[in-house]
Amino acid sequence: MQKDAQTLQHVLIVDDTEVNLVLFGALVKKLGNCEAHTFLHPLKALEWAATHGVDLVIVDYMMPDIDGLQFIAKFRAIGGCASTPLLMITANDRKDVRYRALDAGANDFLTKPVDKVEFLARSKNMLVVSEANKHLAQRASWLADEVRKATAKIVDRERDTVFRLCKAAEYRDPETGAHIQRMAHFSKVIAAGLGMSLEQQELLLEAAPMHDIGKVGISDNILLKPGRLDEAEFEIMKQHASFGYELLKGSASSVLQAGADIALGHHEKYDGSGYPSGLKGEEIPIFCRIVAVADVFDALTSERPYKKAWTVEEAIDFLVAGSGKHFDPDCVNAFLAAWEEVEAIRDRYQE
Ligand code: C2E
Ligand code: SIN
Ligand code: SIN
Ligand code: FE
Ligand code: FE
Repeated sequence: MQKDAQTLQHVLIVDDTEVNLVLFGALVKKLGNCEAHTFLHPLKALEWAATHGVDLVIVDYMMPDIDGLQFIAKFRAIGGCASTPLLMITANDRKDVRYRALDAGANDFLTKPVDKVEFLARSKNMLVVSEANKHLAQRASWLADEVRKATAKIVDRERDTVFRLCKAAEYRDPETGAHIQRMAHFSKVIAAGLGMSLEQQELLLEAAPMHDIGKVGISDNILLKPGRLDEAEFEIMKQHASFGYELLKGSASSVLQAGADIALGHHEKYDGSGYPSGLKGEEIPIFCRIVAVADVFDALTSERPYKKAWTVEEAIDFLVAGSGKHFDPDCVNAFLAAWEEVEAIRDRYQE
């Protein structure tokens, strides 16, 4: 971001009088580090400006094709030329023209007949302004770039944090990392099938792995019990939903917040018979309705300390039988409709 004194500045000069062009061009050379680009025809000048960087414009008012005012309007409309310093050459007694030129976007004036000292002084000032503008713009774009980089870093760190959090839970949970990967990707597939935005799909993919994180709060004799849980044990087990929510809620991170909501609601059932709140139908957040299908399908087809793995056919039958009861029918349909992707995910993430 250092000011580079050697940067060549380009001055666009438009005047229908050849003699003026020669004179102005010679004056611009005196400014040093400047190149003059002179045009007799304003339309040709505009054409040139559209494809070249311009640091200063000096334009006559009275010209045959289009006048200085029309020139300014057209010049300002060119991308990147909205704030390029512009001097208009007018007679001193044409106040009306000057006002209209200001409205059109002129920055200052040169008076006819042009005085060399005045020309040099104004041009120099305008070029300083131009340089400062350029540096400001560069600085703004550099800052925007830095913000982008910093944001990407934060997203990466957040992903890493979530991954480690899930890993910590995995030490105790008989659910494996592969189960987590599969159910998260199944969830994304369902979200896509429901027509959710890519952003929402990604959010779900990142948040779904946290659905059972509250199991860290359940004692081993229940969590790892090799047989069926009795009623009292299952009541305790059910607490994993709100434990997960308590652990993740209130975060400024949208991923953790989504994780909190999913942890709380992933055992709600469509007919209202689930836990912890007995929510019904659309009262259950959509992420939770999706995760319920993805999680149960994968839990059924996985081995657990308390059960053998079901076959895929048995698990599909279970989803279909539970459609509209345990599960949101749209989610079941979206899952089954994307069967090829489901199988690809099962192939990719094995124990
Ligand atoms: P999980 O093993 O991840 O199972 C998630 C959900 O998949 C279960 O939620 C249930 O809806 C479904 N699911 C899994 N296995 C079966 C099964 O064999 N039959 C049927 N019908 N559904 C099954 P749920 O029931 O709310 O259980 C939540 C968690 O509680 C389970 O997560 C598991 O960690 C634990 N759990 C549930 N029942 C038992 C059990 O009998 N013994 C033990 N040790 N743990 C259990
Ligand atoms: C001219 O610029 O060519 C003369 C008239 C004016 O500038 O107002
Ligand atoms: C895992 O991420 O592998 C398990 C964490 C959990 O229980 O949700
Ligand atoms: Fe669960
Ligand atoms: Fe699970």
